[in-house]
Amino acid sequence: MIKVGLLGCGNVAHVIARDTEGFEIKACFDLMHERAEEIAEITGAEPFSSFEEFIQEDLDIVVEAASVAAVHEFAEKVLDNEKDIVILSVGALADPELKNSLRDAAKKTGRSIYIPSGAIMGLDNLKIGRISNISKLLLRSTKNPRSLGIETDKKMLVFSGRADECIRRFPKNINVAIALELATGHDVEVELWADPALKRNTHEIIVEGDFGNFNLKIENKPCPDNPATSYLAALSIITLLKNLEDPIKIGT
Ligand SMILES: NC(=O)c1ccc[n+]([C@@H]2O[C@H](COP(=O)([O-])OP(=O)(O)OC[C@H]3O[C@@H](n4cnc5c(N)ncnc54)[C@H](O)[C@@H]3O)[C@@H](O)[C@H]2O)c1
Repeated sequence: MIKVGLLGCGNVAHVIARDTEGFEIKACFDLMHERAEEIAEITGAEPFSSFEEFIQEDLDIVVEAASVAAVHEFAEKVLDNEKDIVILSVGALADPELKNSLRDAAKKTGRSIYIPSGAIMGLDNLKIGRISNISKLLLRSTKNPRSLGIETDKKMLVFSGRADECIRRFPKNINVAIALELATGHDVEVELWADPALKRNTHEIIVEGDFGNFNLKIENKPCPDNPATSYLAALSIITLLKNLEDPIKIGT
C-alpha cells in the first residue's frame, strides 16, 4: 500500500485523513503541531514538528497541502530524500527558478511531481495546448470578498491580467491559474471577481484553439469544516492517491 506523508495538516489534510482506503498516511508535519496531532489521532500517523525528522520516514509520496511558502522551503528536500511529491499550492511554480530546480531534483532522483486538478476540472486534456495552437485561455474566478481580504457590498472586478501577477497579489486564491499554465504551456489571462452574494466559489475556463472551443464552469462547494477551501481540491488528491497503483490510467 502507498505510504503517504502529509506536509500541512489543515483543511485539505483533514478531508484526506477521513478517506484513506487504498493508501496509508504514515507521517504528518505542520508548523502548528496541534494540527499534526489531530491528523495523527484520525489516521494513526506519526506527527512531527521537525521537517527533517518527518522526511526521514519510510514514505513513497508526500502530499503538500500547506502554502506557497512551504513549497519553496521543502519541495526540493522531499525530492532529494527520494520521495514523490503532490503539490497543491501550485501557485509556487509561478516562479520559473523554483519550477526548474524542482524538475532537476526530480530527474536526478527519478521521482515525480504531481500537480492535482485541485479546485477545477478539465486540467488533464488541456495538455493538448503543448502540441496544438491555443489562441485564447481565460480563467474567470469569482470568490467571496472575505476570502480575498476585501470589503465590498457589490460585485466587483478586483484583478485582470497575467496569472503570475495575480498569484503575487492573491497567493492563496489563484493556484488554479498556475495549474492551467503548467498544463497547457500557455499564459493564462485571469479575471478575478469578488461577489458578496456568492454562495460557491466559481471558476470559468474559456479556451479557443485549433481543436475547437471549450467552456467550463465549476461551482465549488466548500469543505465541510472550512468555507475557504473547495471540497473538490481535497477530493482531487484523494483520487490521485487511490489511482497511483491502478494499472489503467484514465485521461490524457
Ligand atoms: N490547487 C488548487 O486548486 C488548490 C485548492 C485549494 C487549496 N489549495 C492550496 O492548498 C493549500 C492548503 O489548503 P488548506 O485549505 O488545507 O489550507 P489550511 O490553511 O487549512 O491548512 C494549511 C496548513 O498548512 C500549515 N502550513 C502552512 N505553511 C506551512 C509551512 N511552511 N510548513 C509547515 N506547515 C505549514 C498551516 O499551519 C496549516 O495547518 C493552500 O496553500 C491552498 O492555497 C490549492
